Amino acid sequence: MNKHLIAPSILTANFLRLEEEIEMLNGSEADLLHLDIMDGVYVPNLTFGFPIIRQIKSLAKKPLDVHLMIVDPDRYLEEYRDAGADWLTVHYETCEHLHRTIQKIKELGMKAAVSLNPHTEVSLLEPVLGDLNMVLIMTVNPGFGGQKFIESSYDKIRKLRAMIDKAGHKTLIQVDGGVNENNMGSLIDAGVDVFVVGNTIFSAPDPVQMISKLKSPK
Ligand code: DX5
Ligand code: ZN
Repeated sequence: MNKHLIAPSILTANFLRLEEEIEMLNGSEADLLHLDIMDGVYVPNLTFGFPIIRQIKSLAKKPLDVHLMIVDPDRYLEEYRDAGADWLTVHYETCEHLHRTIQKIKELGMKAAVSLNPHTEVSLLEPVLGDLNMVLIMTVNPGFGGQKFIESSYDKIRKLRAMIDKAGHKTLIQVDGGVNENNMGSLIDAGVDVFVVGNTIFSAPDPVQMISKLKSPK
């Protein structure tokens, strides 16, 4: 992976000016748009559904990286593809038959990713690691933007990096939660490829400039 990717999370964007926020991201160095889908059951928050995803898709010039924080995601894989998801991330903890879910996501033409909560060991992904386009390491407990980065994530990232490199897989490592311009450098050094960044971007006086700064943090 030559250059790391930035995936702004619109969870903390201004939804009253969503069109402007998407246009801003279109003109920025962002690589993906990260959409946090929450059902109020798996996580204690509720965000948005298919109609909003379709409208974002009609405006966005970057691929949609859809992060499902919902129970039983198998119910809606096709609907998320039809709504415009390019990357689809399911939580390990919500899938009874994870290998089958990953296969289905890829059959539908999307990139497949699995997310691990802070308490979930990376070794559990060993049997499916080669089937995955990406692994999302949650660096906060899922549900809200603007939380504090969980420092013990570094051990998990380094362990996962070693697993991927040892097996010779091309699986990308993504982190999500509490990422900012101060920890980006050490996360790149630990082996992270894709960075979900919400609050650090949308609370910045100049989000476009912040994204550029995150693209070249050293
Ligand atoms: C949290 C979401 C994250 C969050 C990241 O459950 O998955 O994508 O929006 O936001 P920040 O960067 O604000 O921690
Ligand atoms: Zn997310």
